Amino acid sequence: MLNVMSGSPRVRAKCLALWATTFAIFIVDTLTELDIAVAVLYVLVIMMAMGTCSIRGLRRVALICALLTAAAFFFSHLDHPFSAALARCVVSLTAIGIATWLALKNRRTRDELQEQFSLLAHTHDVEARLHRAQIELAHICRITTMGELSASIAHEVNQPLAAIASSAEAAQRWLDRPSPDLKEAGAAIARAASNARRAAEVIKRIRDLTRKSDSLYEELDLQSVVTDSLALLDREIQSHKVRVACSFASPSLWVSGDRIQLQQVVINLIMNSLQAMNGHKSSPRELHVRTYRQESHAVVEVQDNGPGIDQHHLALLFDAFFTTKENGMGIGLSICRSIIELHGGCIRADSQPNLGATFSFSLPVSPANGQPSN
Ligand SMILES: Nc1ncnc2c1ncn2[C@@H]1O[C@H](COP(=O)(O)OP(=O)(O)OP(=O)(O)O)[C@@H](O)[C@H]1O
Ligand SMILES: [Mg+2]
Repeated sequence: MLNVMSGSPRVRAKCLALWATTFAIFIVDTLTELDIAVAVLYVLVIMMAMGTCSIRGLRRVALICALLTAAAFFFSHLDHPFSAALARCVVSLTAIGIATWLALKNRRTRDELQEQFSLLAHTHDVEARLHRAQIELAHICRITTMGELSASIAHEVNQPLAAIASSAEAAQRWLDRPSPDLKEAGAAIARAASNARRAAEVIKRIRDLTRKSDSLYEELDLQSVVTDSLALLDREIQSHKVRVACSFASPSLWVSGDRIQLQQVVINLIMNSLQAMNGHKSSPRELHVRTYRQESHAVVEVQDNGPGIDQHHLALLFDAFFTTKENGMGIGLSICRSIIELHGGCIRADSQPNLGATFSFSLPVSPANGQPSN
C-alpha cells in the first residue's frame, strides 16, 4: 500500500500528504460540531491515492477512509445515533464508495493503456530486429550470388586488365621505333587509361554489392539500376548463350530507393531466368528486360522463354525456402519481395507453361520524376 518509508522522495512526500490529509479530516470530523458532512472530504484522499497507489492500495485507502468516517460518527454521536448526523455519515460513505469505484475504473484503464503501450514498444522492437535480420539475410545472399558469379567477375576484371597490358605494349612499340610515333603511342596510352577506368568501375560495382550497410535511399534512375546489373551478369549471360533485349522507358523513370538492394532484385530475377532457360531446350534463349511507367509506378519486367512455372507453384514462389532446384535455397525471391515491399512497391510473377516466365516489380515513381506523362 502506501508506505511513507519507501519509494522515491516524491512518492514519500505524496504519501505523507495523503496520510496528513486523512488525519486532519478525521480530527475535524470527530472533534468539531459542524453540521456538514466533513467526511465527504475523504474523496480528496481517494483522488490523491489514485495517482500513487496500486489497485490493492487504493482499495485499502478507501476502506480506511470508510472506517474512519464510521469511527468519527460513533465517537461523536454515540449518544443520539439516529439524527441528521447519521444521514451525513451515509452521504459521506456513499461519496467515498462512488469515488473509489471511479478511481478504480480510472486506474484499471490507465494500467491497460500502459500495458498496451509497452506491448506496442515491444512490437516495434521486434519489427526493428526483423528489419535488421532481413538486411543481414539480403547481404548474405548477395555474397552467395557473388560467389556463384566469381568466374564471371574474374573474367570481367581480367578483360580490361588484359587490354591495359596490350595497349601498354603497343605504346611501347610505337615509342621504340627508330622514329617514335607519338600520336599512336598516345592513342594506345589513352586506351589503356580507359580500360583502367573500366576495371575500376567493375571492382567498384562488386565492392558496392558486397558492402554491408544500412539502407541508403537516394533518387535513382531505374534504367541505370538495370544496366549496372546486366553489366555484372554480362559474362554469365554470354556463357548461357542467352540473347538479351532491353527496352527502357523514355523519359527515364526515377524512384527513391537503395541502389544495391534494387540491383540485388534485378540480379536475382535475371539469375533465375538464366537458370530456368539452362535446363530448357528453348532456342534461341531470349531474355527481355523492360522498364515502363504504369500510372504512378515504375515497372521493371524480366521475361524469359524458359519452361515457365507450374500453375500450382505460382502462389508459393515468394515464400522463403520454396525451391524446385536441387541446389537451390529458395530464398532469392522471398528476399526480392521483402526488398520491394520495403520500398513501398510490389512484385509479381506470371507464366504460361512452356512459354516462359515473366517477373515484374513496380515502385512508386519519385516526385522528382516530374508530372505523370500523358
Ligand atoms: N524465371 C523462372 N522460370 C521458372 N521458374 C522460376 C523462375 N524464377 C523462379 N522460379 C521458380 O521459383 C523458385 C524459387 O526461386 P528462388 O529464387 O526464390 O529460389 P531458388 O532460385 O530455387 O534458390 P536461391 O535461393 O538459390 O535463389 C525456383 O526454385 C523456381 O522453381
Ligand atoms: Mg533464385
